[in-house]
Amino acid sequence: MFKQLQNEEKIYKNYIDGQWVNASDNKTIEIISPIDNSIVGKVTAVSQNHVDQAIAAAKKAQKEWVKVPMNERAKLMYRVSDLLESQKEAIAKMMLHEIAKDYKSGIAEVERTADFIRFSADTAKSIMGENMASGSYPGFKDNKMSLVVREPLGVVLAISPFNYPINLSTSKIVPALMMGNSVVLKPATQGCISTLLLVRIFEEAGLPAGLLNIITGKGSEIGDFIVTHPAIDFVNFTGSTEIGQRIAKLTTMKPLLMELGGKDAAIVLDDANLDLTVDNIVSGAYSYSGQRCTAVKRILVVNEVADALVEKLTKKVESLSAGNPVEKEVTIVPLINEGSATFVEELIEDAVHKGAVLKVGGRREKNLVYPTLLDHVTVDMDLAWKEPFGPVLPIIRVPSVDEAIRIANHSEYGLQSAVFTENIDRAFYVAKRLEVGTVQINNKTERGPDHFPFLGVKSSGIGVQGIKYSMEAMSRPKAIVFNIND
Ligand code: NAP
Ligand code: G3H
Repeated sequence: MFKQLQNEEKIYKNYIDGQWVNASDNKTIEIISPIDNSIVGKVTAVSQNHVDQAIAAAKKAQKEWVKVPMNERAKLMYRVSDLLESQKEAIAKMMLHEIAKDYKSGIAEVERTADFIRFSADTAKSIMGENMASGSYPGFKDNKMSLVVREPLGVVLAISPFNYPINLSTSKIVPALMMGNSVVLKPATQGCISTLLLVRIFEEAGLPAGLLNIITGKGSEIGDFIVTHPAIDFVNFTGSTEIGQRIAKLTTMKPLLMELGGKDAAIVLDDANLDLTVDNIVSGAYSYSGQRCTAVKRILVVNEVADALVEKLTKKVESLSAGNPVEKEVTIVPLINEGSATFVEELIEDAVHKGAVLKVGGRREKNLVYPTLLDHVTVDMDLAWKEPFGPVLPIIRVPSVDEAIRIANHSEYGLQSAVFTENIDRAFYVAKRLEVGTVQINNKTERGPDHFPFLGVKSSGIGVQGIKYSMEAMSRPKAIVFNIND
C-alpha cells in the first residue's frame, strides 16, 4: 500500500496533481528518530517550482470538485475512513519511530481520526445555509427572500504541527474538502512521513487528482513562499504562536484559521475532590510528555489545599514511567528534538535558581526529560509564563480564587483552563471570568470530542475549529435575493 511513496533511492516523494513526484533538484531532508537518532527516512525538500505546480493543480481540480454532490463527497470520505482504520498498525508504528509517540496513543490517534472523518461527512450534509425573509426587519415589507447558500473558498493551504501528524492534518483536509475546497498540505517536517501515509490513503480511496497535494520541506525555507502565494485562498495553520504571528504579518487580505500555543491553567479550589483533580492534572500534563497544545501547563492552587494537593501529585508523578517507547509502554517519551529538551531543562534550572522547590524529576538524558514537578513557583520565573511543551509542571500557590483568576488571565495565551471544585456556583464564577476559548469543569484541558468548538483567544489563535466550525470557516455564505415586485 505504501511502496510507491518512495523512489529507488528510498526517498519519500511528494504527491502533486495525483502523481508521486521526485524532488526536481534531488534536495532531501533526513528524518531522524527522536528516540535513538536513527534515520527514519529521507523526504523530498520541495522546490518553489513544485509548490507552484501543486497550487495550480489544486486550483484546477477545485473547479470540478465543487460540482460533485455532497453525498458523493461523503461516500468518498467513508472510504477514506475505513481504509485509514485498516492501516492503523502501520501508521502507529511510523509515528512511534518518527515522533516517539507511544504505540497505543498512535493507534488511538488513527481511530479518533477515522471517527472524525465519518462525523465530518455526515455533518457537512446538514450545512445547507438558510432562508431569510425581509418582513422580519423593521421598515421592510415581506417582498424579499434571501436564499443563503455556502460556497467554498478555493485552495486551502493546511500547515500542521508535529504532535498529531494524522489528526491535525485530517482536521484541516476533510472539512475543507467536504465544503468543496481543494487542499495543499505542508506537514511538519518531523512527522511528515506519517502524514505522507495518510495522503496515500486518500489516493487509494479514489480522491480525484489535484484535490489533495502534499509538499514536504522545511517551513523555515519554503514557509514564506507558500503562505504569500497569490493563488492560496485560505490558510489553516496549527503550530507555535511565533510562527503563527509571522504568517499573520506576512499575509494580507487572506482569511486565516490558526490554533497556536497555550499555557493552560488548572485552578484548584479548597473544596475540590483532590483524587479526581490529581488524576486529571497528571494525565493532562504528562501524556505524550506534555507535547500537546492543551496540556495542563500550570497549577494555580489556593493555599488551604496546596499541601494536600502537592503530596498527592508528588506520589502520582513519581509513579510515571519514562523511557524508550519502542522497548516498553511508557508515558514519558523522548521529546521531539534536543533543542526542545534543552529549552525545558533551562526553564527548570531558572525556576530552581529563583527558589522553586523540585518535588520530582529535574533529570534529563539526551531528549528524555524525566517527569518534573515544581512547587512554590512564582510569577518572576519563566516557567510561570512560557509554554514548555515538555513534561514539567509548575505549582503556583495563591491566597484566593480571584488571585488565581488574575494570574491565569495575565498570560499572553488563552487556549483552555480547568477549574476543580465541588460547587457549581463557584465553578461558574471562575469560568465566566477566564479569558480562554474553553473552560473545563472538573476535567483536564483537552480538545475532544472533535465536534466541540475549539479555539484560542489572545495569542492562542484566530477563528474556531471543530467539525462544523471548521466547515463554516472554510466556506462563505452567498446570498441570492428573490425580489417580489407585485
Ligand atoms: P511550529 O514549529 O510552529 O511548526 C508548525 C508548522 O509550521 C510546521 O509544519 C512547520 O514546518 C511550519 N513552519 C515553520 N516555519 C514556518 C514558516 N516560516 N512559515 C510557514 N510555516 C512554517 O510548531 P510545532 O513545533 O510543530 O508544534 C508545537 C507548537 O504547536 C506548540 O506551540 C503547540 O502549542 C502548538 N500547537 C497548537 C495546537 C492548537 O490546536 N492550539 C495544536 C498542536 C500544536 P517545519 O516542521 O518544517 O518547521
Ligand atoms: O496539541 C494540540 C491538540 O489539538 C490537543 O488535542 O487535547 O486531544 O490532546 P488533545
